[in-house]
Amino acid sequence: MFLLRVQRRRLRSFFWGALLVSVMATIYTVFYRSQRKLEEISKQTSGDSYSRALPRYESPGRNLGVETFRQCNPRNNFIFIKIQKTGSSTVTNLLQRYAIDRDLTVMVPTCTMCALSWPTSPEPGMYHESKNGEYNAIVHHTRYNKTWMETMFSPDTAYITVLREPFSHLKSVFHYYHLAGKVLQRKLKTSGDENCIQRFLKSPFEHRYVLGYKHCEVTFERTRNFQAFDLGYKVEWAEDTGKAEQFLADLEQDFTLVMILEHFDESLVLLRRLMCWEMKHILYDKNRPKKEETYPYKYYQPSLEERANHKEFNNVDYRLYEYFDRSLWNKIASEGPSFFAELEYYKQLNNNISNHCAGSRAKKETMIVPSSRWNAEFHVNGEFCYRLRTKRTKSLDGALRARLIKSERKHVFGRCPPRDQYVVLKSKSVGN
Ligand SMILES: *[C@@H]1O[C@H](CO)[C@@H](O)[C@H](O)[C@H]1NC(C)=O
Ligand SMILES: *[C@@H]1O[C@H](CO)[C@@H](O)[C@H](O)[C@H]1NC(C)=O
Repeated sequence: MFLLRVQRRRLRSFFWGALLVSVMATIYTVFYRSQRKLEEISKQTSGDSYSRALPRYESPGRNLGVETFRQCNPRNNFIFIKIQKTGSSTVTNLLQRYAIDRDLTVMVPTCTMCALSWPTSPEPGMYHESKNGEYNAIVHHTRYNKTWMETMFSPDTAYITVLREPFSHLKSVFHYYHLAGKVLQRKLKTSGDENCIQRFLKSPFEHRYVLGYKHCEVTFERTRNFQAFDLGYKVEWAEDTGKAEQFLADLEQDFTLVMILEHFDESLVLLRRLMCWEMKHILYDKNRPKKEETYPYKYYQPSLEERANHKEFNNVDYRLYEYFDRSLWNKIASEGPSFFAELEYYKQLNNNISNHCAGSRAKKETMIVPSSRWNAEFHVNGEFCYRLRTKRTKSLDGALRARLIKSERKHVFGRCPPRDQYVVLKSKSVGN
């Protein structure tokens, strides 16, 4: 009896022991295999030139296995073409935050005016030198110049920009540059019900206002194809549809993403996906636009005739906008339905964080954002809020400059500027 009991006890413990060993073995194999697989994946994706000694990406969605959180390496080389009056300062702010977060080397202007170089490409002395002569990114104002950019930046650089609906852009430019007085040669005061945009659009060809510099051949026109201009299009090509077609095809080829201000959130979610960034990198301050100043014709909608006149005068910008609006929606369509789930989440999160940061407790209290299908847990502290809410590009330049070789802040001008020392080449002179 006693012996039997002992045997039974032994048998039982043997059974439990065996079970434990086999469970452990299974766990180990599964874990080991998935680890190997992850290593293989990261080897495949980081073995090429695209990772250039960049910080390894901790994919927070790793064990969620959701296709929306791709196992990919974040793209850390990018050039943002910052077009005036298209919401581009908001994008610059988030790109600056990304660059700080990832410790990237950004080509920062030596001048404190925050334009890198315009309307020609930067020349040595206009930007702080990097320690190894290489740069990851441009986020300050300069025109797209493929030749120059390809010699200075890695071939895997992502080109990004943002466009605005042309009529809305015209109003903003008119207001910002005080064009009522300059273009129409009259004071901002409106006569009767007419505003300066209406006056201008009655006969835009009679109100040409071409600017240039004394020492260089680049001319520009703020009311005409001014968005295309920053993407490298010349004023002289305004009527050349062949050139315009080629221009669009080249941009489609060269640019990773052309965002659209009117679909800003969609554009940013797409940016996150195409660049393989995290949700925290595409946040912006939702309260920001509300504080912008208003002006009498801000909400003016054009008559059919005014729209037609504008379209004729500003033809390349309209083509550009329509082309890349379509292109944006094609890209979104190929992302599949998970895109819209992400978009919904992003909008909520953006609101929540903007509200938190606008509140009086933002400095003291840290908001913890739990992980989701698209991001790891992250913390929104006072510093995060300060960076998110700053309206000045130069506020975040200090952190970017710290990575560069120290040199004095100065205004160095390239071939064309001094900036703003342009001359009026043509004003009301069409038909002469
Ligand atoms: C574009 O870059 C090339 C090569 O650096 C330069 O020769 C040319 O002048 C640049 N164009 C403009 C408009 O800055
Ligand atoms: C945003 O805040 C609301 C209200 O507190 C909450 O219900 C919602 O889950 C939050 N959404 C996100 C994405 O943070």
